[in-house]
Amino acid sequence: MRTYVITGAASGIGKTTAQLLREREHTVIGVDLHDTEVTADLSNPVGRASMVADVAAASGGHIDAIVACAGLASPTVATARVNFFGAVATLDGLRPLLTGSSAPRAVVISSMASLFPPDDELLHLFLDGDEDGAAARAEVLAGDENLSGLIYGTAKRALALWVRRHAALPEWAGEGIPLNAVAPGIIDTPMVADFLATEEAKQAVLQQVPMPLNGIAQPIVVARLLSWLTSEENTHLCGQVVFVDGGSDVMIRGESTW
Ligand SMILES: NC(=O)c1ccc[n+]([C@@H]2O[C@H](COP(=O)([O-])OP(=O)(O)OC[C@H]3O[C@@H](n4cnc5c(N)ncnc54)[C@H](O)[C@@H]3O)[C@@H](O)[C@H]2O)c1
Repeated sequence: MRTYVITGAASGIGKTTAQLLREREHTVIGVDLHDTEVTADLSNPVGRASMVADVAAASGGHIDAIVACAGLASPTVATARVNFFGAVATLDGLRPLLTGSSAPRAVVISSMASLFPPDDELLHLFLDGDEDGAAARAEVLAGDENLSGLIYGTAKRALALWVRRHAALPEWAGEGIPLNAVAPGIIDTPMVADFLATEEAKQAVLQQVPMPLNGIAQPIVVARLLSWLTSEENTHLCGQVVFVDGGSDVMIRGESTW
């Protein structure tokens, strides 16, 4: 049986993935702000370092897979810190613990929101790894109600691009570690509860995020994909961003990608 680390395991997609993997008799070390094996705040370097140390202690120094799920959707600086820098620190910090696994795997959660036009300045700061600069830019965006919504999608685009940039490098592909991302559409979790509270609100969301295939999804849909991407069966997916979105990518990008 395998040992998985799942961040954001106290709620939504992370919690459902943890339940699914435990049902399949794997060991899961959950990480979150509360109600998990490891308590850590991934919004800052101290919390990220304590997460790595506590996971190392809880696992005995050996894990088989990383599922970096923790995230926020608020139009705030914290979202920039957790959704990009927290996820990257999770991957980089836990990667050494994968050494020795016969089937090491890693996956992060991007979003179909990565398809929306980003804030270019923030995107470059993310990709340069400049957390102070990104936080300062995010603060400017957060202060403008017309721009604050760009923080989330820009962080998710940066995360998808980070995966594309790193997946084929010696430390990932060269070490036999498939590194990939999933990009969900609208998933019925506490994160989006306000958007789904009324039929009217739901229809407004689906205008922005069209999901012609089966509509809004339950978290188990994403959990099953995460489970496969981090399983022994996945030997050759490298740097893919897998849209699990009921068709919004097809509706938005059409034939401009393949
Ligand atoms: N629900 C959706 O429609 C949707 C769509 C696309 C992508 N996503 C992404 O999927 C992931 C999971 O989202 P969800 O819908 O399950 O949301 P959720 O709010 O149910 O769960 C997110 C979890 O992340 C944790 N978290 C937040 N900040 C943290 C921090 N600083 N340190 C540690 N943990 C922290 C929260 O405590 C929470 O338990 C997120 O990255 C989200 O952006 C969600």
